[in-house]
Amino acid sequence: MSLIPKETVDQIMARADIVEVVGEFVSLKKKGQNMWACCPFHHEKSPSFSVSPAKGIYKCFGCGKAGNPVQFIMDVEGTSFPEALKYLAKKYGIEIPEEAPSPESSREQNERDSQFIITDFANKHFQQNLHEHEQGGIGKAYLKERGISAAIVKKFELGYSLDAWSDLTDAALKAGYKQQYLEATGLTIVKDDKRYDRFRGRVMFPIHNVSGRVVGFGARTLKSNDKKSPKYLNSPESEIYHKSNVLYGLYQARQAMRMQDMCYLVEGYLDVLSLHQGGIDNVVASSGTSLTDGQIKLIGRYTQHITVLYDGDAAGIKASLRGIDLILENGLNVNVVTFPEGEDPDSYIQKVGDTAFKNYVQQQAQDFISFKASLYAADTKDNPVKKAEAIREIVASIAKIPDSIKRSVFFRSCSLIFDIDEQVLVSEYNKMQLQDRQQAQTPKTGSTYGQEPPLPPEAEPQEKEESDTDVLKRYEREIVRMLLNYPDRVLEEGITTCQYMLEQLEDVEFRTPLYARLMELVKEKLCEEKIPVAEDFINYPDQEIRAEAISLLSEQHELSHNWATHQIFVPHESDLLPYGAERAVLRLKWRNVQLLIKMEMEKLRLVTDPEEQIRQLTTIRSLKSFENQLCDMLGIVINR
Ligand code: CTP
Ligand code: MN
Repeated sequence: MSLIPKETVDQIMARADIVEVVGEFVSLKKKGQNMWACCPFHHEKSPSFSVSPAKGIYKCFGCGKAGNPVQFIMDVEGTSFPEALKYLAKKYGIEIPEEAPSPESSREQNERDSQFIITDFANKHFQQNLHEHEQGGIGKAYLKERGISAAIVKKFELGYSLDAWSDLTDAALKAGYKQQYLEATGLTIVKDDKRYDRFRGRVMFPIHNVSGRVVGFGARTLKSNDKKSPKYLNSPESEIYHKSNVLYGLYQARQAMRMQDMCYLVEGYLDVLSLHQGGIDNVVASSGTSLTDGQIKLIGRYTQHITVLYDGDAAGIKASLRGIDLILENGLNVNVVTFPEGEDPDSYIQKVGDTAFKNYVQQQAQDFISFKASLYAADTKDNPVKKAEAIREIVASIAKIPDSIKRSVFFRSCSLIFDIDEQVLVSEYNKMQLQDRQQAQTPKTGSTYGQEPPLPPEAEPQEKEESDTDVLKRYEREIVRMLLNYPDRVLEEGITTCQYMLEQLEDVEFRTPLYARLMELVKEKLCEEKIPVAEDFINYPDQEIRAEAISLLSEQHELSHNWATHQIFVPHESDLLPYGAERAVLRLKWRNVQLLIKMEMEKLRLVTDPEEQIRQLTTIRSLKSFENQLCDMLGIVINR
């Protein structure tokens, strides 16, 4: 590749605006001095990717990637420095004084570059065919018949492959391109010692990557009922074309997706074109394959909202449901619109017109979970066995949603659709979670030393039958047990167990009356500047307190028997008291927050005022984030 003059490099660097450059790939939101987004370089749920307009740089606090606009393009496109400069030069209309790459020099470039170049050549060639070749008239007539305007043909760079054996191959070879790259990109097929074009006599749909380079083609035959050749042919996978990471129309749709914070997902090339033509720009196609994780993440760079526009046949819909679960798993919001039997988005918009189409989509859009639930509910009305299966199916979908608040909203709406108690759904969900966890658990081997000592054996959650108060009671009891047994043990830096616990739990109200009273007694002692000792409790006038204290004082440590019999070294509880005390405190706090969240969720149900709902959601979210912190500290992984 020829050298770009230094002045031009400087000019590009000076002109490139970091917000504009990055903003084409992710949706930035202003917060303080900087702009923020979810990082395009690693998967994350909350934004840690920042852009500083003042400094002209981006930095991700999650994965550490950072740099100027050129670096950003190199990172996001996986290109070389000169290529990134060229990208920016094109964006800002800066001319690079260099010779056009000769076939000679193109041969020296690496594989990827060569593939891009040959694909670009093919794209131009196909367009030329459509517009200038006499055969192109057939292609044009076809597109016209399908109701596609000239403006759309231009915007999507549609082309035509001649009905001849090797038109493209010959043209490329004549221009000096190597057969090797024609083959690598699938444009040319070599069989025995014959070469021929893969695409012949077809309307060509170039497929662009996010930065606008053509990576492959879809190609439609003009023959409406030719059984011998498939309706669509597509480029094979290549160095530059990875189907699972490409969406048809994304390059043309991404700005609109960001602006409207919504992406319409359709199946076919013509669906994309017709919707664009009708003024719906934020539309992409999965091109007949089932949706992949990579494609969803691609959409997620621009918006968190997807509306799936389905063809009208039920079989097709059920087949696509899995792909939608994948969208949920990625934390995106999904709505669904179905079309009347026999119609797809393309045929429908062509039939009813833009306005009616838009109205239809607006009216029909339904959240995916309710959609799926209604679909199954209708099927299983009078069949309890089928109904049970359907419920499991829906709950499995809900379980994919990472956000627990959203999940609970869906449990409620589905309980209405299926006309069953919400609790049935929730307990089905819990059952699934439990099974998943049991399957995930591998038997522990080797020494157990260094792992968490066996404090309360039932410490980690999943006691389904236990009521909330019972659970809290257990954790409160654990705190009091430690206090009574080791009141004056110094944990660290001269702080005793008593001081530590009371300080940490200052704003935690004990809910079990018995333990609340015991806590009061400990506090009273401390206020008198005395260390509470066993005798204080054992000889206490109140019988209930006395009995509990004795019971607590006799439980210094709970070692499981098999630990001892297997001669594994088990440290005494008091050896690990600082650790144990901290965990006991964290666990109690955790349980308390969980209870609070539950109570706030209950309240949320009762409020109807939208503003009040938002306030309530904010409260819940902040409690949730506190809960997450506690879980992190405890090393607990919760599916959410
Ligand atoms: N497709 C494909 N290969 C095929 C058939 C379909 O890649 N052999 C993809 C194309 O992206 C196509 C989409 O699936 O646009 C939808 O195919 P289909 O439902 O068959 O499209 P129709 O609506 O029937 O056909 P048309 O494109 O003419 O509207
Ligand atoms: Mn169609």
